[in-house]
Amino acid sequence: MLGNFTFYNPVKLIFGKDALKLLAAELIQYGPRVMLSYGGGSIKRNGIYDQVMEILRITGKEVFEDPGVMPNPTIGKLKEGARIARENNVDLILAVGGGSVIDYAKGVAASAWCEEDPWEKFYMREENPSCRIIPVGSILTMVGTGSEMNGGSVITNPDLKLKIGKVFGPENFPKFSVLNPEFTYTVPHYQMVAGFFDIMSHLMEQYFSGEDDNTSDYIAEALMRSLIRNSRIAVRNPRDYEARSNIMWTSTMALNTMTKMGKAQDWMVHMIGQSIGAFTDATHGMTLSAVSLPYYRYIMPYGLPKFVRFATEVWGVDGHGTDAEVAEKGLQAMEAWMKEIGVVLHAAELGVTEDMLDDIAAGAPICTGGYKVLNHDEIVEILRRSM
Ligand code: NZQ
Ligand code: ZN
Repeated sequence: MLGNFTFYNPVKLIFGKDALKLLAAELIQYGPRVMLSYGGGSIKRNGIYDQVMEILRITGKEVFEDPGVMPNPTIGKLKEGARIARENNVDLILAVGGGSVIDYAKGVAASAWCEEDPWEKFYMREENPSCRIIPVGSILTMVGTGSEMNGGSVITNPDLKLKIGKVFGPENFPKFSVLNPEFTYTVPHYQMVAGFFDIMSHLMEQYFSGEDDNTSDYIAEALMRSLIRNSRIAVRNPRDYEARSNIMWTSTMALNTMTKMGKAQDWMVHMIGQSIGAFTDATHGMTLSAVSLPYYRYIMPYGLPKFVRFATEVWGVDGHGTDAEVAEKGLQAMEAWMKEIGVVLHAAELGVTEDMLDDIAAGAPICTGGYKVLNHDEIVEILRRSM
């Protein structure tokens, strides 16, 4: 393990069927004014809203509702939320939802008391907050992004067709996150499997780099094996608690920075996927599934030993044949799994058209931590193969 690193993750995770019972003990540590941020209404339909409101009532909170956080939250919505938070001088932002709501809450928390334009400061210039940050707590209802235990805040600017992920420091992580696997039972199949692929992608982005023997890679392999096994069960029976709880914990660990320790990282699939998202507003995980196979087949020759290891350790394929043959068998096994759980395999299905490819490639920053540093034309070629 050759890299230096500092690991610090201050999020208090409260996990399990009874997790919500411990929310009150967290809430009483903050002042009385709570901004409740949530999405398009799923929490009202599945009853989570009523449960949370009751706990807010019992703990004596004054609630400022902030509904309507859309998937792929926009900078316009973020500015609106920052205004609500500031005008009401809230003591806590309680984000109830998936990655979109939690990412948004972190952006609002950093922007409410900031005089500068948040898009320019945080997302374009990637600066850190220089004024008061409102604490955020989260109640997770959909797994995949890991936002419940990291500083990621991905915001879309539809006018500029840019989707940018700011990674805030630990002071902006949720102070606490409540994770009840049962809350994910009502996630629609399409969103559920998109989240599953997002987890896989986070692990692969951190796994496919480096030449040294690194404990972080062994952890990633274990998480990938758990995800593959449990996703198959959850697709057949979405109410299998054991499968949903394993996936929820895997998802959190896949992007709480643990598996990147001591490593360079790739993230090229995410850069291409986010640019597709900026042009199409497609579901995040599906933008990743659409480009992953063409991308990994393209870079495989540059990191062949790792692809052989991925094939044998993660997918359990036999090691007979040349290295290139074994590596390809691993990607074939992944392709079969992707088909089995039902993720999108072609960008055209997301509304991408040939005339967009050049602009999508231009909107994807080039990453240097993986096995191959791509140029613009190579990104266009990968996109073309993904169609
Ligand atoms: O809005 P509502 O009505 O709540 O419906 C949501 C939404 O339509 C629905 N949903 C969530 N929980 C549900 C549910 N429906 C029924 N029952 C439930 N229990 O699912 C839909 C998608 O939700 P969303 O939050 O958008 O999904 P996800 O968690 O995948 O978040 C995606 C966003 O996170 C960013 C993505 O780019 C995207 O903007 N990411 C954040 C990362 C981070 N913080 O580190 C990293 C990721 O790579 C990713 O980029
Ligand atoms: Zn992702």
